[in-house]
Amino acid sequence: MPKAQKNTLISQTLHFIRPFYWLIGFAMLMNVIFSSLSALSIALILPIIRIIFGTTSVEKVAHSQEFLTKIKDDFFHYLSQMIVEPGDILSSLVNLSFLIIIVFVLKNVTKYIAVVTSVKFEEGVIKNIRDTVFQKLTSLSVGFFSRRKQGDLISVVANETTALSHASISAINIILREFTQVLLFAFLLLAISPQLTLIASLSALMSLVILRFASKYLKRYAKRMQSFMSDYTSTMQESFYALRIIKAYNAEEHTNRKFFTDTYNYVKAAIKHKKVITLIPSINEITAITALTFVLFFGGKQVMSNTLSGDELMLFLFALFSIMGPVVIIMTNISQLPRGKVAAEKIFEILNVDDEIKSGEKVVTNLQKKITFENVSFQYEDEEVLQNVSFDIEKGKKIAIVGPSGGGKSTILDLIIRFYDPKSGVITLDNFDITKCDIKSYRKLFGIVSQETMLFNDTIANNIIFGRENVTQEKLEEVVRHANAYDFIQKLPNGFETHIGDRGITLSGGERQRIAIARALLADPEILIFDEATSALDTESEKIVQNAINNVLENKTAIIVAHRLSTILDADKILVLKDGEVAESGTHSELLELNGVYRKLYDIQFNEN
Ligand SMILES: Nc1ncnc2c1ncn2[C@@H]1O[C@H](COP(=O)(O)OP(=O)(O)OP(=O)(O)O)[C@@H](O)[C@H]1O
Ligand SMILES: [Mg+2]
Repeated sequence: MPKAQKNTLISQTLHFIRPFYWLIGFAMLMNVIFSSLSALSIALILPIIRIIFGTTSVEKVAHSQEFLTKIKDDFFHYLSQMIVEPGDILSSLVNLSFLIIIVFVLKNVTKYIAVVTSVKFEEGVIKNIRDTVFQKLTSLSVGFFSRRKQGDLISVVANETTALSHASISAINIILREFTQVLLFAFLLLAISPQLTLIASLSALMSLVILRFASKYLKRYAKRMQSFMSDYTSTMQESFYALRIIKAYNAEEHTNRKFFTDTYNYVKAAIKHKKVITLIPSINEITAITALTFVLFFGGKQVMSNTLSGDELMLFLFALFSIMGPVVIIMTNISQLPRGKVAAEKIFEILNVDDEIKSGEKVVTNLQKKITFENVSFQYEDEEVLQNVSFDIEKGKKIAIVGPSGGGKSTILDLIIRFYDPKSGVITLDNFDITKCDIKSYRKLFGIVSQETMLFNDTIANNIIFGRENVTQEKLEEVVRHANAYDFIQKLPNGFETHIGDRGITLSGGERQRIAIARALLADPEILIFDEATSALDTESEKIVQNAINNVLENKTAIIVAHRLSTILDADKILVLKDGEVAESGTHSELLELNGVYRKLYDIQFNEN
């Protein structure tokens, strides 16, 4: 990864951590106290040895001018003064015991506080990142979602945010905590014997080299883990979505197999990742123990030649043992970082998406005259879906769009509500380019009943109200009556408060559409848009829904996409769309006279009936 990108990854992550600086500072303070107490508990070894082996006071080494050694000697001098009662070993032991207990109680109290504080900020950071990613996703345009696997996006919100936190934020927190201990012990080691410290640190150097080598593999396996996790999340999400189809086609086995393959791939990558990660502390320990034996050998020689005291070698070895734990923890957590980096890349890739649909400035409140398509062309990918489409939608008029499947009818509606923008040409609202309108105020002008009615796992009332505030029961009932939905809602066990299952499974197609119509009505939009609102229904319910539509169309501007021509015979204008072009337009009778595409469509449907 280029350096600049790396920096932005880090600075972007820091952005999410910023609100928690105080909490982090406090956790760090607790950690420093904890680490110091840990170091002190090891340092107590020296007085213990000296008391038990009878050296009751530490002789200050007169010839030593070395800075570190002096601090160390002063420290142990004061420590001994606190503990040792000259000539009274028993009292000294009592003092020592008290000190040990106090140190260990304090150590554990600070550790507890530090852990709790760390959890608060780690979970806070996860929430912060997760909420921001979700908010970004809901702000992105329809086009973004049609290009991406939903499961992949779900996986980023659900898994990658946690992975980022665990593998980097928590890891860095732990690394900093352990680093304090390493620093204190390193000081102690250096103060006792710089030569022996040098020998010992060779092992740390070796560990770093190994880590550097391993991180390449860790990153590779972390990427695979991320990708397979996204795969099985996708499979799961799609399977739940399509559960009815899966059952109807007896495709459970097939679906299960796909899921099992995904989870198998994930496990394979996870095991490889773990194999490398687990190797690191083991290798570390072996190199560290090797270093320790070297220290034992050379230190022992120094003791024999009287250049080092026996108790100091003892303390050195204790400190070396104690530094090994934190060093191993640090190395293990450093090896987690590649997984965090993979997660961060996924997260910021989404957060940095520059959406193609941008809001303009001008706030609009109503439609005064007309919406106009001027030479609008559009393509999703390479192939042109709409070519030079021009037409007007005048205020108060009903315009219908008909034509063969795949002709671009739904696409026109998507362009009107700015799910997409035209590739060329312009759409205007009262002669003002809609891309320059404030998108929220612009979309407020429309109420939409789309080809697929989306209902949420919530009550009927909430599905109709859908985020609006201050909706009275009277208003709710009014729109529901208008949408021909009152009777069936009343018959439901809890009326308006009936909970509908995920994706509206417990309602019939026609009922769902009438709920969707009520929803559109409640928004009280200037312009109503219907996309094939009756196509999925049998004749009986089509009639009911059609009546509902006719009810609500009074005094409204409307754009209706319809397969069944019978529903749009009285439209003010009918647009016949064929291969992305407006083939014909006019009223029903005008179009019949033309004897063209519309006539053909009409004849087919007429003969059908
Ligand atoms: N998100 C998309 N990405 C790529 N191509 C798309 C997308 N949506 C639609 N298309 C293609 O654009 C063309 C027009 O589709 P559109 O949905 O507008 O047709 P339609 O007239 O509404 O058809 P139907 O009557 O079947 O609903 C089709 O060829 C379709 O395959
Ligand atoms: Mg369509």
